[in-house]
Amino acid sequence: MQQFDSIIIGGGAAGLMCAAVAGQRGRRVAVLDHANKVGKKILMSGGGRCNFTNTFVEPDNFVSDNPHFCVSALSRYTPFDFIALVQSYDLAYHEKTLGQLFCDHKSKDILNILLAECEAGGVDIRTRCSVESVERLTGEGPVRFKLATSQGTFGCESLVIATGGPSIPTMGATGYGYQLAEQFGLALTERRASLVPYTLSGKRLELAQSLAGVSLPVRVSTDRQSFSEALLFTHRGLSGPAILQITNYWQPGEGVEIDFLPSESIGARILQWRESGEKAELKTLLARLLPKRFVQAWLAINPELEQIQAKPIAEMSKRDLAALEQAFHHWSCVPAGTEGYRTAEVTLGGVSTDEVSSKTFETKQVPGLYFIGEVLDVTGWLGGYNFQWAWASGWCAGQYV
Ligand code: FDA
Repeated sequence: MQQFDSIIIGGGAAGLMCAAVAGQRGRRVAVLDHANKVGKKILMSGGGRCNFTNTFVEPDNFVSDNPHFCVSALSRYTPFDFIALVQSYDLAYHEKTLGQLFCDHKSKDILNILLAECEAGGVDIRTRCSVESVERLTGEGPVRFKLATSQGTFGCESLVIATGGPSIPTMGATGYGYQLAEQFGLALTERRASLVPYTLSGKRLELAQSLAGVSLPVRVSTDRQSFSEALLFTHRGLSGPAILQITNYWQPGEGVEIDFLPSESIGARILQWRESGEKAELKTLLARLLPKRFVQAWLAINPELEQIQAKPIAEMSKRDLAALEQAFHHWSCVPAGTEGYRTAEVTLGGVSTDEVSSKTFETKQVPGLYFIGEVLDVTGWLGGYNFQWAWASGWCAGQYV
């Protein structure tokens, strides 16, 4: 049996951080990953430049059945701690927007930092290592878990599950962490793909297809939350940061409301145009505020709007203005679904935080067993929040495993 103090299953963002911290504490640590290389989601993140954290991280940016669970870890390992690590390697980075920090060069630079930190902690990283079974040993002695793997048998005192969520299965993502949680009798919350584009059907799909490639700033809302960012029409439905963000707060079957002109009132603008004696057609005037293709498509979405667009603005009635207000500021849409785990950035839900200490990340029922990162029921917004959760939970657990 190959014996370690701590074994971490999953060499992603959280697992590598935890391994480095524990290794540098003097623990003998192994990371077991079934993929051919570690950190694949880091490599593909942020369009190849890894949006590695966000300077505005707050607990409110995370979704969980227990919204308080993340508070402790996020306050003990902050974005500025990760930025200090990045700076200690002289890595060039920049803020893109909304506090989102990206590497100037490649995501690989972030992975290289984690690998260097693991090396400094003497961490043994095993790739292409499939875990076949995990057994809890109840006898005396330091070995509390025995793992049968494709690279032989391993034993450890602390076992950390850092297998992430099942989004992008082609990158080696699995739901193995949930399976292990079930094996140990731990509760899971409902899970689904999130930070993911919507699919549409019927007339709405035709509309989206006719506008595929058009992007515009919007405000998208559910009863619980709203986001003002860009929306992108696609051949399958709706995408763009505003849409991805709202999926963290959306239930299948529910509608979302979209304001396509969030920075002003279409009614007030038309009255202004009327007062200043504008003679141009409505669609020409609206094209000053919105993409032309969008305006044309939107004025054709129902017969009432089609009639309005032919009227001079001086003749528009209150009812016409209300119809325009409804169509441009309160478009309601029930998505057919999402593109699912194939393209989702994260999994919403996971191992219930009731099962885990928010200080150590050790499970309350199984001493020595830890869960960190995305496998837990903690999901961040788009924009560097999910990596910050991985770093913070990995760093905290690394102090105890
Ligand atoms: P992560 O998924 O990183 O790691 C899990 C590891 O476990 C993997 O190495 C996997 O191979 C391994 N594993 C899985 N099953 C196993 C098994 N059965 N046996 C052994 N090993 C197993 N976030 C952000 O903050 N900024 C960003 O820019 C992006 N961009 C982004 C782009 C794309 C395309 C995706 C899919 C995701 C993002 N994210 C993101 C989200 C972010 O990548 C994600 O939340 C973190 O990687 C989660 O870190 P974990 O360590 O928990 O899991």
